[in-house]
Amino acid sequence: MAYILHVASFLLFLTKLSIGQREVTVQKGPLFRAKGYPVSIGCNVTGYQGPLEQDFQWSVYLPTAPTQEVQIVSTKDSTFSYAVYAQRVQSREIYVERVQGNSVLLHISKLQMKDSGEYECHTPNTDEKYYGSYSAKTNLTVIPDTLSASMSSQTLSKEEGEPLELTCEASKATAQHTHLSVTWYLMQDGERSQATKIISLSKDFMLIPGPSYTERFAAGDVQLAKLGVTTFRLSIRRLQPSDQGQLFCEATEWIQDPDETWTLITKKQTDHTTLRIQPAVRDFQVNITTESTFIEGKPLELVCLVVGSSRDPQLQVIWFFNDTEIARIDAGGVLGLKKDYKERTSQGQLQVSKLSPRAFSLKIFTAGPEDEGSYRCAVAEVAGAQVGSWQVLQTKQSPESHVHLRKPAARSVVVFTKNQQQVVWEGEALTLLCKADGAAGLLSVKWWHIPQEQTQPEFVASMEQDGTVQLGASHRELNNHSNTRLEKMNWATFQLEITSTTVTDSGTYECRVSERTWNQARDLSWTQKMLVTVKSLQSSLQVNLMSRQPQVKLTNTFDLSCIVRAGYSDLKRAS
Ligand SMILES: *[C@@H]1O[C@H](CO)[C@@H](O)[C@H](O)[C@H]1NC(C)=O
Ligand SMILES: *[C@@H]1O[C@H](CO)[C@@H](O)[C@H](O)[C@H]1NC(C)=O
Repeated sequence: MAYILHVASFLLFLTKLSIGQREVTVQKGPLFRAKGYPVSIGCNVTGYQGPLEQDFQWSVYLPTAPTQEVQIVSTKDSTFSYAVYAQRVQSREIYVERVQGNSVLLHISKLQMKDSGEYECHTPNTDEKYYGSYSAKTNLTVIPDTLSASMSSQTLSKEEGEPLELTCEASKATAQHTHLSVTWYLMQDGERSQATKIISLSKDFMLIPGPSYTERFAAGDVQLAKLGVTTFRLSIRRLQPSDQGQLFCEATEWIQDPDETWTLITKKQTDHTTLRIQPAVRDFQVNITTESTFIEGKPLELVCLVVGSSRDPQLQVIWFFNDTEIARIDAGGVLGLKKDYKERTSQGQLQVSKLSPRAFSLKIFTAGPEDEGSYRCAVAEVAGAQVGSWQVLQTKQSPESHVHLRKPAARSVVVFTKNQQQVVWEGEALTLLCKADGAAGLLSVKWWHIPQEQTQPEFVASMEQDGTVQLGASHRELNNHSNTRLEKMNWATFQLEITSTTVTDSGTYECRVSERTWNQARDLSWTQKMLVTVKSLQSSLQVNLMSRQPQVKLTNTFDLSCIVRAGYSDLKRAS
């Protein structure tokens, strides 16, 4: 008997190879699907004879009566359904979709817990002889829906460019091993039905941006992060007007079927967050501010100011001098300098910087004649995809600013004495002041003295720009004490003091003020003179001794007066 069976199966094998053998295949189980969700079970037939288009009949064996066939639906016979399924088949909640002549899908649109069971797919015979299998079975288990997704409903008002963070809680408690995927959607105003995908975290933990968010995702401006087990956070770094609308999150639960395909089993959407975005004023103007003149050797600073935009855009600034680019600073703060200016920067003579998000400075610390000309700045608003590659959105130019070199102006110098008198008494102090006018600058001073009835000037004292004082030979220290002092009262006033005069100090005093230009090419000077007389005390004093009693006797007393007349008020008496 065993021998005969062996031969038979060998013959069957041969037949299958040559003329074929009917074989019905149903999707491999067990399948787990959630209550309330749909299921689709595939079934096909191969190796058959007869018409290409085959008929299919679906039945179920429920766990309560595993041997009893309950007929559900057929492609051939509308009376096939048992009463318990008739209603659901009639309303097409349950139906068979034909994929091909030999292949169908059984759809149950909304599973009930009682739909768990062993499903059988059967093909009525169209062959001359019964050969092979005519049906196949698979198990379906309906499980409860445990998925939840939540986000509190709210309305947010934001300004363009502001950041946004929204979180959504998603969890499940399915006994079987399942994965979650989470997707954030935007429903733009007026697009009631169609939601735009912003970003999703797939069931295999991949971040996938929606088609209209790929660039912002690449720039790191749109992110989705999983925090802990159930929290999913959407972050948008800079909101755009197109982000306005209703935002929500959708969680999807996936299970891997025995045929290794992942199938959605549950899906939940959260409430919506309404997002209003106040568009920023994009337009801006560019101004350039500077003094219209500068002094050689002094700093020259130009400031490029962006006004009008209601937010802080990413800006790139280019400086032009006589219409040639000299320097630029990009939105990332990276400097680009033309050759000469690069050298001057490395020597610390030039600085190109960003003072604030909207103010940019070009500063030349020691400006020279070559810096005279017209300056201008161009400001471009840029969007950054990657560092170093900026996309220019709009460019604005500042007006031209003409900057002129101010040559050291002719100065006038005045010389005067402290007490406004040109005559002093011998022994009194002589204080001479020499004062220049005009713009602040580095001045040096030299005092000369031309004694009376002489023509040869004698050097008295000098003070350099740095304040170093030098005294003339006849004014140097005697016994550690000098009679002559030269002091700077302010940047343009120099005081020469001879603390105790002698008659030889009479004569003409000349003050020479010099200004040195920054490159020391020129030394400009101005002079002023004043005649000073030092009067001798001898010429001033008259002393008379007299008495009112012309005749006096010995031992008598009498009055004797000593009368001193002096043209000098501050005289001290030593009697
Ligand atoms: C038949 O169905 C099985 C199970 O669904 C599937 O693996 C196979 O690819 C199908 N064959 C054809 C020819 O459709
Ligand atoms: C369906 O499940 C029952 C009970 O576990 C089992 O006896 C039967 O073999 C399964 N059917 C298939 C086609 O796997």
